[in-house]
Amino acid sequence: MSVFPKDFLWGGATAANQFEGAWDVDGKGPSCMDMATNGNHHHPREITPVLDPDKLYPCHDGVDFYHHYKEDIALLAEMGFKVFRFSMNWPRIFPTGFEDEPNEAGLAFYDRVMDECAKYDIEPLVTLSHYEMPFAMCQKIDGWASREAIDCYVKYAKTVMEHYKGKCHYWLTFNEINCGMISLGNYMSLGILNPGSFDLRHQNDDPQKRLQALHHQFVASALAVKAGHEIDSDNKMGCMIAYMLAYPLTPNPDDVELARERNQYRNYYCSDVMVRGEYPYFAPRLWDEEGVSLDITDEDRRILKEGTVDFYTHSYYQSQCASADPAEETSGNLFGGAKNPYLKETAWEWPIDPAGLRIMLNQVYERYQIPIMVVENGLGCRDEVNPDGTIDDDYRIEYLRDHIKALGEAIKDGVEVWGYTPWGCIDLVSNADGEMAKRYGFVYVDKRDDGSGTLERSRKKSFYWYKKVIETNGEEL
Ligand code: BG6
Repeated sequence: MSVFPKDFLWGGATAANQFEGAWDVDGKGPSCMDMATNGNHHHPREITPVLDPDKLYPCHDGVDFYHHYKEDIALLAEMGFKVFRFSMNWPRIFPTGFEDEPNEAGLAFYDRVMDECAKYDIEPLVTLSHYEMPFAMCQKIDGWASREAIDCYVKYAKTVMEHYKGKCHYWLTFNEINCGMISLGNYMSLGILNPGSFDLRHQNDDPQKRLQALHHQFVASALAVKAGHEIDSDNKMGCMIAYMLAYPLTPNPDDVELARERNQYRNYYCSDVMVRGEYPYFAPRLWDEEGVSLDITDEDRRILKEGTVDFYTHSYYQSQCASADPAEETSGNLFGGAKNPYLKETAWEWPIDPAGLRIMLNQVYERYQIPIMVVENGLGCRDEVNPDGTIDDDYRIEYLRDHIKALGEAIKDGVEVWGYTPWGCIDLVSNADGEMAKRYGFVYVDKRDDGSGTLERSRKKSFYWYKKVIETNGEEL
């Protein structure tokens, strides 16, 4: 008997800025990530406030889901998807963010996508904002640093939730909102363009501005949650957290303490606000340490209380170790920390830790007792195409199998998990590095880092494997 509930939502996830392409088609305005160049693990993406004709901007074309959506959704349906997580491109709907009326051609595109999903009984799970704030908002109001961003976002969120009423019932307000807890989040997550910040991975940071901007996102999210419930009582509104699980490197109490602090600051600061409707008890200490004083009005506090989410979602790719000895903190993965001697790493130095998924699911459920969805997980790596066109991605199958097993164990532990949508189900542009070489998909897309390729889609070995997983509701792994 399968440990997965009968109606478990198996699927996959994508994001508009990495997937759609058509960055300036049918009235769409540029988003913040349209201004970021390509890069790789050793060479960070660059933020260029003015497009440089000598540079490559991989998000401009993505893998052209905009024109391939029928074929792509048919492939997802062939795997038996029950749910498809995708994000809406905010500047496709409001090109600068400041318009009073939406761009009808943008709305029409997601109508086509949702109708196509409905054809196959695939439930859409929509992220309202996944690293694609209209670039005009970064330029004019410094992104989320300004309170004005709240109104722009709420107008956008209400517009789409009203327009797609009845077609979509699962909404996530912000992708990986806790990215705003680290300096990496300044630009891609908060739309803040600090002077002198050109390297996407190492941006200049102003914690006062960053944490205030994050507060504005919390208020905007709560207002969207409230609006979502008012528009359609069947709507389920969720938060989305990049879960950065931290273990102490050793039993040295200093390491244990640092791990506790990292887990609280990085993982729970945001979700406590979104699930419980108020800042956690440890927030004032964090503000003191960062030397910030936030403008939080009584009305903000009321809104946060009224706009708590129905379910918790998260990404999970890796864990880290925390060491109080800075000499140990040499890990090359995105979130830093110390290397874990017990774990293997991907070519991008992301530690592979399936057991960590079970651990973190239990931690989250113990804290909140609300349903959870794992909306991102997966192995980013190079794929080789065999001379006959097949792709034997056994390494990806192994990674996913181990994580699904861990997920099953968490369900046996009693954690309520609604679904699983592994990342980049169709190959797309990687986010942190802006490259095609790092692939996650069950479906291969013929596109290279220099932008060349036919964009032809083909099924990898993992495609057939995942199809079986879904068919047997996770029994056959
Ligand atoms: C998550 C993001 O952080 O990780 C995605 O929500 C991203 O947008 C994914 O693509 C994987 O990261 P990367 O850098 O390998 O694409």
